[in-house]
Amino acid sequence: MPYDTIIFEINKEIAIIKLNRPEKLNALNKKMLDELDDCIKNIETNNAIYGLIITGSGNKAFAAGADISELHECNKQTGKLFSEYGSYVFKRIEQLTIPVVAAINGYALGGGCELALACHIRFASDNAKLGQPEVSLGVMPGYGASQRLPRIVGKAKAIELIISGAMIDANEAYRIGLVNNIFSQEELLAKTFEFLNTCFKNSKLAIKSSIDCINKSFEMSLLEGLHYESQQFGEICNTKDFKEGTLAYLEKRLPDFQNE
Ligand code: COA
Repeated sequence: MPYDTIIFEINKEIAIIKLNRPEKLNALNKKMLDELDDCIKNIETNNAIYGLIITGSGNKAFAAGADISELHECNKQTGKLFSEYGSYVFKRIEQLTIPVVAAINGYALGGGCELALACHIRFASDNAKLGQPEVSLGVMPGYGASQRLPRIVGKAKAIELIISGAMIDANEAYRIGLVNNIFSQEELLAKTFEFLNTCFKNSKLAIKSSIDCINKSFEMSLLEGLHYESQQFGEICNTKDFKEGTLAYLEKRLPDFQNE
């Protein structure tokens, strides 16, 4: 399906979603969430996709937040639905078991920062600016920052960022662990592809199971999570990749993984 507000491409094994409203700094409106939802459904059912990169069109923004003109119309009932819908779409992104990397190429504010938080890994360009400015608009984060930001940067830093509404630059985001790495704007996408392709020298089945278990670790008790990990470990021991990887080590050669 052709999209109006996002660009969806597949480059060999890696899908890329570009948020595409550059004239509005890629602000997330309802249509963009609908299209993201549809796109994620496609990715969930495409077994040939092993990684996903989310980035913004243009060189100014990843996404400058939820679309404030739509947000302004919310009341008690529709505000709840507004928040639930964005959270639902972002949760589906987070629950993917292929690695999902946010390539933050400029402003990632409000809902834009929250979309990046739902990704598994965040790389930033050196001109990136991140923040949760909702309180300056008389509102609060509604697409997950109150829950994910403390898990990523700790409670005190999350409260500081959310109640100040402050924008931080890429260096500060890196210092507090909000982004995993910083690259120049020109290199950001190439370095993101390079990272994923380096990971893909490993068993992609083992990568998927690892991400699945790590995702579950945020939803289960430690005991349940350890039980789930052991189950998945057993499944992985039943794959050809496992036999090949361990045999290659014993035979002192590189493995030839077939994703089986
Ligand atoms: N929702 C709707 N439109 C937005 C937007 C948002 N979150 N963020 C930017 N835009 C629009 C602007 O209204 C402007 O549209 P216009 O040209 O039709 O007036 C366009 O994108 C360009 O933005 P502009 O403000 O002119 O760019 P800038 O470089 O001067 O400032 C920002 C950049 C990011 C500092 C500024 O756009 C901003 O503060 N945006 C809102 C950020 C925010 O509060 N996000 C959280 C929302 S919950």
